[in-house]
Amino acid sequence: MSKGFFITFEGMDGSGKSTQIEILKKRLESNGEDVIFLREPGGTPISEKIREIILDKGNSEMTDVTEMLLYAAARAQLVEEVIAPALRAGRTVICDRFIDSSIAYQAYGRELGDCVSAVNSYALGGIMPDLTILLRSDANLGETRIRDREKDRIEMAPDSFKDRVCRGYELIEKADPDRVVGIDARDTVENISSRIWDEVESRRGEA
Ligand code: TMP
Repeated sequence: MSKGFFITFEGMDGSGKSTQIEILKKRLESNGEDVIFLREPGGTPISEKIREIILDKGNSEMTDVTEMLLYAAARAQLVEEVIAPALRAGRTVICDRFIDSSIAYQAYGRELGDCVSAVNSYALGGIMPDLTILLRSDANLGETRIRDREKDRIEMAPDSFKDRVCRGYELIEKADPDRVVGIDARDTVENISSRIWDEVESRRGEA
């Protein structure tokens, strides 16, 4: 049904997503392409308000189920208000995190299991990414990179949680190898960005 192209970036906190998204953005924009860049949770006024609630360190009493539902709510709003119309209009949409983050962090990290995909089927409205770039890293690499800035509520979770998230991402990549392209986050910024560019170019050519 959609004519556009939908790319998502995934990975542990500190895996270098933002750097790579910025490089891809510059490259596409210098080609004069009509591309929308979004982040999750966020991307609409309502979803950004939900983001503040989720990441607020003061909300230490938030239950795991509440957290999972809030991510799904922010996603539902973003899909219906921005992503679906953009794809219908034939645009390219790039999103920093999407459904795989909920599977890795809530289904595996918080150990909520299958209910996460079930709930998110309402949020997705049948839309899945055409290509997902997964920056593969272990929990330690991310930890070193985010050490110097203030951590949000999710980043403050214990190492055991981060190990489960990491394992979750491994399983996501194995389960959907056609969509999910795993790239070693320890490689150089240049190597990673050229690999991403090759994938984006070849996949959009096929679409
Ligand atoms: P960010 O720091 O990449 O903007 O993401 C915000 C945090 O939210 C990050 O620690 C990952 C987490 N997250 C989830 O736990 N589940 C989700 O569904 C999404 C989108 C993000």
